[in-house]
Amino acid sequence: MYNAKGVIIGIIVFVIIFASPFWLSWIGTDYTKTGVVLPQGEKQCVEDTEFMRANHMRLLDEWRDQALREENRAYVSHLSGKTFVISLQNTCMKCHNNYASFCEKCHVANSVYPYCWTCHILPEGK
Ligand code: HEC
Ligand code: HEC
Ligand code: HEC
Repeated sequence: MYNAKGVIIGIIVFVIIFASPFWLSWIGTDYTKTGVVLPQGEKQCVEDTEFMRANHMRLLDEWRDQALREENRAYVSHLSGKTFVISLQNTCMKCHNNYASFCEKCHVANSVYPYCWTCHILPEGK
């Protein structure tokens, strides 16, 4: 006869140790943060952060249509009332000039690969 109690405790200890990388990876991870690098010295985007997070691709489509179909290159922010020039390169990427640590970082995490950069030019910073 072997010691059943000892075996069970052994199994429990083994499972805890075996799974520890999984438990430990939870400690210190804040899932409310996206970990992207935001522009230095700027406080606001063209619209509020929640809207931008969810809708920036739709806003960009709207900007392209406004510029090319309507010949309108001015966009008035609903957030601040400020007027922005409609331009992916000269407006979005002027503030978000760290493409790798901002747009790309979040896109890779979400497996999204926009095809814009075969024509539009990426900012050269970092
Ligand atoms: C005037 C500078 C400026 C311009 C222009 C600008 N942004 Fe932003 N953007 C910011 C700042 C600052 C934040 C962070 C705001 C905050 O944390 O409240 C931000 C936030 C964002 C976010 C959300 C990031 C997150 O925390 O999840 C996205 C997406 C985004 N911008 C995309 C764009 C796109 C696309 C454009 C062009 C249509 C653009 N931005 C134009 C400054 C700018
Ligand atoms: C906080 C995360 C995040 C940031 C930061 C971010 N994106 Fe996105 N982006 C996404 C997600 C997620 C999608 C896909 C959403 C969907 O399919 O509905 C997306 C989709 C897009 C699309 C549409 C791509 C397609 O194939 O449909 C474009 C264009 C785009 N992003 C441009 C940008 C630009 C330019 C920046 C930087 C200025 C940026 N994004 C920053 C998360 C982000
Ligand atoms: C096949 C080439 C090509 C691709 C790919 C492309 N664009 Fe464009 N885009 C253009 C051209 C050309 C213009 C007109 C430039 C002008 O008249 O200022 C333009 C204009 C725009 C404009 C308005 C004006 C400006 O300077 O920003 C936006 C916004 C835009 N594109 C967004 C996008 C986004 C977002 C993507 C990726 C989802 C994309 N484009 C992919 C060629 C392209």
